[in-house]
This record gives sequence, C-alpha cells and structure tokens, in this order.
Amino acid sequence: MERASHANRAGVNRDEGNGSLKVLVVGGGGREHALTWKLAQSPRVEAVLAAPGSAAMEGLAECHPDVSAGDLDAVTKLAREQGVGLVVVGPEDPLAAGLADRLRDEGIATFGPSAAAARLEGSKAFAKDFMERHGIPTAKHRAFEDLHAALEYVGRLDGRCVVKADGLAAGKGVAMCESPADAERALREIMEDRRFGDAGSRVVIEDWLEGEEVSYYAISDGERFVTLAAAQDHKRLLDGDRGENTGGMGAYSPARVVDRVVEERILERVVRPTIRGMAEEGHPYVGVLFVGLMVDSAGDPQVIEFNVRFGDPETQPLMVRMKGDLAGLLETAARGRLDPDSSVAWGEAAVCVVLASGGYPRNYSTGHPISGLEAAEADEGVVVFHAGTRRCANGGFETAGGRVLGVTALGESVGAARDRAYAAAAKIQFEGAHCRSDIASRALDRS
Ligand code: AMP
Ligand code: GLY
Repeated sequence: MERASHANRAGVNRDEGNGSLKVLVVGGGGREHALTWKLAQSPRVEAVLAAPGSAAMEGLAECHPDVSAGDLDAVTKLAREQGVGLVVVGPEDPLAAGLADRLRDEGIATFGPSAAAARLEGSKAFAKDFMERHGIPTAKHRAFEDLHAALEYVGRLDGRCVVKADGLAAGKGVAMCESPADAERALREIMEDRRFGDAGSRVVIEDWLEGEEVSYYAISDGERFVTLAAAQDHKRLLDGDRGENTGGMGAYSPARVVDRVVEERILERVVRPTIRGMAEEGHPYVGVLFVGLMVDSAGDPQVIEFNVRFGDPETQPLMVRMKGDLAGLLETAARGRLDPDSSVAWGEAAVCVVLASGGYPRNYSTGHPISGLEAAEADEGVVVFHAGTRRCANGGFETAGGRVLGVTALGESVGAARDRAYAAAAKIQFEGAHCRSDIASRALDRS
C-alpha cells in the first residue's frame, strides 16, 4: 500500500532528536490536561504548548489562552512561529473543519485525521455507508433527508429504534426510542424544530443494539496501527445508569468485557477493515481511532459510532495507566512511520471519577472556589485533571464548567483504583459538587 502523501509531506519536515520536540496540544479540557500531563513526561519533549490550554495546565505547558481551538488560522500561525514539531488535536470540531489538513500543508506533523477522514465521526451517514461498504458490523440503518419519508419508515417499524441527527451535535442528537410514537417525536424535534440546527437536515434511524458498551482505541499512521486499550465510560448522570446523558461522569480501564477473544474480534472485524478501507478510499486515517462498541452476550462487537479523537473522560484513566513514551508514539503516527510491531505497556487499572457542578448537564452556576485539591493529589497514584476550572483571586481554583474535575487513580486492580479515586475525590469540595458513586462497578460485578 502506498504511503499516504500527506504523511510523507509531514515526514520530510524536521527530524526531532531526543529532548528537542515541541508539541502543541489543541484544546483545554480534561482530556487535553491528561494528554499534556503524559506528553510532558516524554524524554523527546522539550516543551509542550497548549492552545488555549487552561490555568491548570500552566505548570506543564506554555498556554496560549488567546488562541482558541477552533481558530484554524491562529493555531496554524502559533505552530509555525513557535517551531512546533508535532501538533496533537484534542477535540473533533477543528478536525472536521480541516485543521490537520492546514497544518500538514505547512509541513507540520499533526496527530489527527484530515477533514475527509474526520467524517467518520462528523457524518453518521458517511460512517454508516462506510461500514456497509467494508462489511464492518453495525446496527442496520436508513438515512433520510425528508421528514415524511422518515415518518413513514418509523411507522412501519413495530419495535424500538434509535434516531440520530447527522453531523456533529456535541454528543447529543441521539434519541433512544421505545416505540414508533417516541421516534416520531424525535424526528419532528430534529428535522422540524431543528433542535440541533443544521445537524438535523439529515437523520439516521437504526436498530437498537443490546449488550455492554465499551470504547476501544487504536493509533494509526494511515496504513498501520498500534492498539491502545479498552475503557468504559459512564454517560448517564445518576448511579445505576439512570438520568440524563452527560459528556461522561467517569471512566475506567481496562474494560473486562474486552477479553482476548473479544479484542481479536474487534481488531479483525472493525479496526483493521476501517484503517484499510479509509486508505483504499483515498482518506488515510492518521490519528486515534476511538470505536464506540456494543458487545453482545455472545461476545460479538458491533460499532455504535466512530470518534476521530480521544474520549473524554476515558483519556484520563488511559493516560494514567499508560507506560512509555506517548509523544514518540503520536509523532511516529503523525509522520507515517508507525512500527506496527511496537506495543504499549499498561499499568494494571485506572479509574476516573468526574466531579460536576450542581445542575449539570442542564443549568449550573460557576465561580465556586474549590478546596482540597492539594490533599487529593498528595494521595499515592492520584492525579486530578481539570475539565472546567479557572484561577481565582487568591491563586487557587474555582469552578468554570459543568464537568469540573476528573479525579483519576491508578491501582493494582480496578477495585483498588476505584477506592483511591473516591478517597481522593472526598477531599475535594466546592458548592454543588456531585459525582456518581458507582463508577467502575460494572467491572467489579464481573470479577
Ligand atoms: P452516539 O452519539 O452515536 O454515540 O450515541 C450516543 C449513545 O447512544 C451511545 O453511547 C449509546 O449509549 C447509545 N446508542 C447509540 N446508538 C445505539 C444503538 N444503535 N443501539 C443502542 N444504543 C445506542
Ligand atoms: N466519552 C465519550 C466521548 O468522548 O465521546
């Protein structure tokens, strides 16, 4: 297979020796804090820059709060002027808008897919058609641009289904419908009321998959890949997976449902055909492929969705678990020189408990002082990643978002990591703080 031309272009740029690589992390949330924390430990890295970064990242990275992740011109200019040798893009929106293409055109090695490849996440219809073309297992689906045709289709279904707005709707735009009446309501909200704006000009209606949900991660250079690990996110607000969907209330890794047999199936049936298919179709996939999967009771995986970036909050436990040089791995992928025989070593287990603002994911207030951070981080194996904080006048931190902190702990088992994370989280206080009390319990129930 031909090496991706953009990878070649990036590859002839500069050859960074040990300790001389400048890495720019794009983004400023909990995921980017975790990536920065890990990148800063790399012997190859001279400095980490972040755009915009966050107050909490300042000890690890040179932050540029005036450069927002979505400002392609400003990010490109910063990378060029600062002699950045590797850009690591956190969120999906700048990728969908073509940030990686822009940076590669400037000869800057970039970890993240092109806009064309980012359609795997940005367009559910593209992803579904792609999976069909390549025989990748996923829920049966139909796409519609016409409300009446969509209504007629759901009228003929007699069971449950899932209705999704096409395009990026910030993780929302997915309605789990118990009946055709639910589906009709969802379709009218998405297509008629335009609840998710233009993302609702097209909908995908699919079968409701049963099983256990996991996130699986692989790093690709467009042609080859190296696997990371599986993690499980907790998307619902309340214990026992009840309440509203959120951006994620916690995560842990490894996910026990992904044993050796299931992992082999994920690689053979999903990851390998995806990387090969994207290359064959002329959009080689460079970056992290994050596959959201449902694993049924027979251990067969089906793809729920692709994401073209690291998960948040799954990245927090992944980075704490990961051993070895993240910068080296991402750089070789960005330059099209991944060694497929290399492998990543992992600590036993890690758990991340998210502390959220009162009222999240709906309305919440910000500006509440946070106490106990130092005491929490003094615990062995604990790192607190900041998702939504800012500095306050006394030099400490205050809340500045819905998800505020990801208290993350490493342990010799999921149970030990969970106990550490909760013990540390209990030391942190801010007005309205809440967290789920059952993060990782699914793994513990299994063992
Ligand atoms: P998505 O934005 O496609 O990841 O969907 C958000 C969430 O909805 C997923 O994480 C699943 O929990 C759920 N979901 C989406 N599609 C399906 C499906 N076909 N069957 C069951 N659950 C689904
Ligand atoms: N934690 C799920 C996501 O990042 O999309």
